[in-house]
Amino acid sequence: MQPLATNPVLIGPSILSADFRRLGEQIAEVEAASADFIHVDVMDGVFVPNISIGFPVVEAVQAATELPIDVHLMIVEPSRWVERFAAAGADTITVHAEVDPNLYRTLRAIEEAGAAPSVTINPGTPLIMLEPVLPIVRQVLIMSVNPGFGGQTFIPAALGRIRRLRQMLDEVNPTCRLEVDGGIKASNAGAVVAAGADTLVVGSAVYAPDTHIASAMYALRAEIDRDHHESDNR
Ligand code: DX5
Ligand code: ZN
Repeated sequence: MQPLATNPVLIGPSILSADFRRLGEQIAEVEAASADFIHVDVMDGVFVPNISIGFPVVEAVQAATELPIDVHLMIVEPSRWVERFAAAGADTITVHAEVDPNLYRTLRAIEEAGAAPSVTINPGTPLIMLEPVLPIVRQVLIMSVNPGFGGQTFIPAALGRIRRLRQMLDEVNPTCRLEVDGGIKASNAGAVVAAGADTLVVGSAVYAPDTHIASAMYALRAEIDRDHHESDNR
């Protein structure tokens, strides 16, 4: 018999790719298929070349589900908005290190507002940018695509970054969650987990016009629940 996992891998569908005409139903479907949280992508058209959603949608998601809400802020000056997102229902708030000269203060403000502070960087940003704040966050997000759009292809170099970040976290904050976002599918989810991720965001792999949501969720879950020993492949 397998020992009980002490650190299960969480799956959080990103509603960016959902059908917004039926958002409540689309959330209920992933919840019924054992989603662990809902990921909400907020874009401002400045930090990323796209504009998505804001406070009213976070409030609607909160009204639609009991699941935790993971808000990913792809916006400049995130410190101006973190209290509002926490009040709207965000349980975790992720800010990009590239756009915040007062990262420490912003992460503390998220905590004070009652949400879990989380930090992220784009695929081209050195990991060392994260190092000063690793002790004070409850989640770090490794972007595996350049942010802005759903449905992009996973950047393989993210795997090495996940491995290095896992080592950095093991030294200073071992209970911190390591989330990965962008291009995750059943075909690469095992490798992402084997590299050290424990929290996966999935958009287009779950929400797509020709995809059966529950089947896609179970395929992902089956893939990440398998034993993945990186050393076996070396
Ligand atoms: C990208 C967003 C992602 C996106 C993921 O800017 O941060 O959360 O919705 O979508 P997929 O899984 O399709 O890459
Ligand atoms: Zn995201």
